Amino acid sequence: MEFLGSHILSIDQFDRDDVHTVFRVADEMEPYAQRRRRTRVLEGTVLANLFFEPSTRTRISFGAAFSRLGGHTLETTGFQFSSMAKGESLYDTARVVAGYVDVLVMRHPVEGGVGEFAEATHVPVINGGDGPGEHPTQALLDLYTIRKELGRGVDELGGTRVAMVGDLKHGRTVHSLTKLLSLCDPLDLVFVAPDELQMPEGLVERALSHGHSVRQTESLPDGVADADVIYTTRVQQERFTALEDADKFRGSYSINNAVYEKFCKPGAILLHPLPRDSRPGARELDEDLNQRRELAIFRQTDNGIPVRMALFALVLGVQDRVHDTAEDVGWFVPPRVGIHDVV
Ligand code: ASP
Ligand code: CP
Repeated sequence: MEFLGSHILSIDQFDRDDVHTVFRVADEMEPYAQRRRRTRVLEGTVLANLFFEPSTRTRISFGAAFSRLGGHTLETTGFQFSSMAKGESLYDTARVVAGYVDVLVMRHPVEGGVGEFAEATHVPVINGGDGPGEHPTQALLDLYTIRKELGRGVDELGGTRVAMVGDLKHGRTVHSLTKLLSLCDPLDLVFVAPDELQMPEGLVERALSHGHSVRQTESLPDGVADADVIYTTRVQQERFTALEDADKFRGSYSINNAVYEKFCKPGAILLHPLPRDSRPGARELDEDLNQRRELAIFRQTDNGIPVRMALFALVLGVQDRVHDTAEDVGWFVPPRVGIHDVV
């Protein structure tokens, strides 16, 4: 794909070479993401973060990634604090904001909402999650994490078993991740979910048509057996018409230390897009796993920074100039020694 000036809306836009490009640039961003070096390559640029659904890490990490490149971020969160609450259309909002900034990140509750917004503007728009549709930058950071954790390149993942667990019907991260993994050499994909929340048929077919093996099961012990990567997800309660319907499924798949030791392959890495639901009765990944090296969820969130920096650099065409203004940082940066830190 041509990154320069493009919207990033869906994993459908990517081929394997594009993934290599993003990861090569992301690797170069690591010293900046880890606050060892600083760069001002995007000094003078402005990002608008428009988030119309709750978010912690996507919103903050896009803003932090942009700041680490020297740019400035402006934000609006929630419909009630934007003029959409006064009836302004997505089209008008897009046309207006495009006049103020150089790049936009948007999260919207409706599938296709970010795409509709992007159609109204020539300023690059990055999809930070559109309803149950996609979350393409999450999938990129997920695969970046898998590659780092397993110590295998994107071209060396063939034969890896990846289990995705939970609400696969509504989870936009697993939709994008399935599309992205479909670009790899044949994998063993296992989709673990209640029948009602299984992976959409079109995505199963896409994986099969790329030569992957796909197994669907309702059973957690069966589903995680021999998996190298276990990607758990939250019941997406906000996508159900009634909360009681979501409650029926909450807690169906909880992994704690005892479950891990009994059913998972030793060394299997545990991922989750987060937030994990820490309420009693949910706990997709119990806090008693926190001291396990295999729990990679906080390294996964850290990886959002270099990957999002890479996307900004590519879309704005500065990927070859990042080091020109680089220098060591002159402020306190805590040492990285914990099990959850970058490896
Ligand atoms: N944070 C991710 C998303 O917005 C996953 C989740 O909310 O469960 O899609
Ligand atoms: N993973 C993710 O999208 O997290 P937030 O919903 O907190 O942004």
